[in-house]
Amino acid sequence: MEFDVFTLLPEVFPPYLNSSILNRASEHGLIDVRIHNIRDWATDKHHVTDDEPYGGGGGMVMKVEPVFAAVESVLGPEAGCPIILLTPQGRVFSQKIAMELVRNAHLALICGRYEGVDERIREHLVTDEISIGDYVLTGGELPALILIDAISRLIPGVLGDPDGAMDDSHATGLLEYPHYTRPAEFRGWDVPEILLSGDHAKIQKWRREQSLRRTLKRRPDLLESAPLSEMDRKVLKKIEGEGGNS
Ligand code: ADE
Repeated sequence: MEFDVFTLLPEVFPPYLNSSILNRASEHGLIDVRIHNIRDWATDKHHVTDDEPYGGGGGMVMKVEPVFAAVESVLGPEAGCPIILLTPQGRVFSQKIAMELVRNAHLALICGRYEGVDERIREHLVTDEISIGDYVLTGGELPALILIDAISRLIPGVLGDPDGAMDDSHATGLLEYPHYTRPAEFRGWDVPEILLSGDHAKIQKWRREQSLRRTLKRRPDLLESAPLSEMDRKVLKKIEGEGGNS
C-alpha cells in the first residue's frame, strides 16, 4: 500500500516509520510511505506557507497554492486516490475507518498546521477529512502517523501472526480479553488456571466472556453495535446479575 504524506514537518516521520513493525513492512515492500515537504512548493523567496486570515483574527492560515502545487505535482492533476486532510473537524477515526481505508492501494494524507487551512483546500482538493479525537494538536503529523500505523497493521503480512489483528480490541466490536505470558506465578499472582489447561474450547469460551466483561465494565456503549450471539447475551445477563461486574 502506498502513502503520500504532505507536511511542513517532514523530519518527524522517519524516526517512527523506521522503527520496528513499520520498518519491516517497508523493507518487505508491503508499504511505501513517501514524505513530501509542502515548503518545497512555495515559490516565493522565503518559501512562505502561511498567511494572516482574511477578516482578521488571531493565528495564521495554511496557504492554498503550495498545498495544491505539492499534491498535484506528486499525484498528477487527476489523483486516483483518496486525499485525506487530518483536522480536528473531520470524522473521528476508528478501527472501522481503518478497515475501510485499508481497501485502498494508495492514500494521500495532508497534515494541517497553524490555526487552520485555507477553506479552498477543503472544498476543492481533499476528498475526506479525519480527526483522531476531540482534542486539538499543533498539527496533523501525529494523526497521520496514527492512520498509517493503524491501517498498515491490517495489511496481510505486516503483523507476524496472520490472524494478529483479528482479535484486537475494537476489531470484534468488543474490547480484547486479558493476556498473560510466563511466568505462571509472579509475586503470588497466578495466571488463570484455565489458560494453562490446554483445553482450547474452554480457553476460547473464557476469553469471550472476559471480552464481554471488560466491554460491559469499561465501554458499555460498544455493546450497542457489537455483533453478539445468543450465547453472548446470556453471558452478559449472567455478568449483570453478579452486580459488581469486574
Ligand atoms: N490536527 C490538530 N488536531 C487534530 C486532531 N485531533 N485530529 C486530526 N488532525 C488534527
